[in-house]
Amino acid sequence: MKKLIIAIDGPVGSGKTTVARRVAALLGYLYVDTGAMYRALALKAHRENVALEAEDRLAQMAGETRIDLRIDNGTQTILLDNEDVTSAIRTPEVSQAASKIAVIQGVRRVLVAEQRRAGQLGGVVMEGRDIGTIVFPDADLKIYLTASVEVRAQRRWLEHQQKGDKVDLTRTIEEVRERDQRDVQREHSPLKRAPDAVLVDSTAMEADEVARLIVLLTKENKTSGNTTTAIGV
Ligand code: DC
Repeated sequence: MKKLIIAIDGPVGSGKTTVARRVAALLGYLYVDTGAMYRALALKAHRENVALEAEDRLAQMAGETRIDLRIDNGTQTILLDNEDVTSAIRTPEVSQAASKIAVIQGVRRVLVAEQRRAGQLGGVVMEGRDIGTIVFPDADLKIYLTASVEVRAQRRWLEHQQKGDKVDLTRTIEEVRERDQRDVQREHSPLKRAPDAVLVDSTAMEADEVARLIVLLTKENKTSGNTTTAIGV
């Protein structure tokens, strides 16, 4: 059976990561978290005291950096130059820094090339902001996953709570708004729904339901072409 390229884009906290991982597991596909790549590079820039505005230096750094994404028994590990940075890239500071370096075209060029290499054989679920628009504009199935800003911020806040990090919900809502604004308004590859992406609003849906829905859409896509345009809205 043909192995598809499934692109899942959407704003912070829309549930992309959980959903994409589950879809990949259900279909036996590879899962690629492109946000982790921007995060890993942001962490390296921070550690090496490279200013987030130093565009040329950051683009060069992207080319010289090795980022590996591994999944073992459902657990994802992110390696930055062979060092495990899985937890280190999930702090609020790295989140903000990642969205800042993601505006740099030279950085995007390097990471997008990596992402295309990772997905070119199909059988992949790739999630990010520009997968259906830039990385794989010909993806077999495109999903634009979203939810209300309050629900998205609450999900992020809960994740931090579960890890024992003390973060303020009001501040988290503000941070989500800030990142949304940067992701949507940036000049290069802004976050937007591809015209042929299925819009899924997960405000009132569990990640598991969304994942099962995407698997159904995959089957629909294989048999009759993609006819669904919006769900949950
Ligand atoms: O999905 P995430 O929150 O882990 O992504 C971190 C940042 O990386 C996000 O603010 C925007 C950026 N990003 C991007 O610009 N393009 C992608 N394909 C993935 C993430």
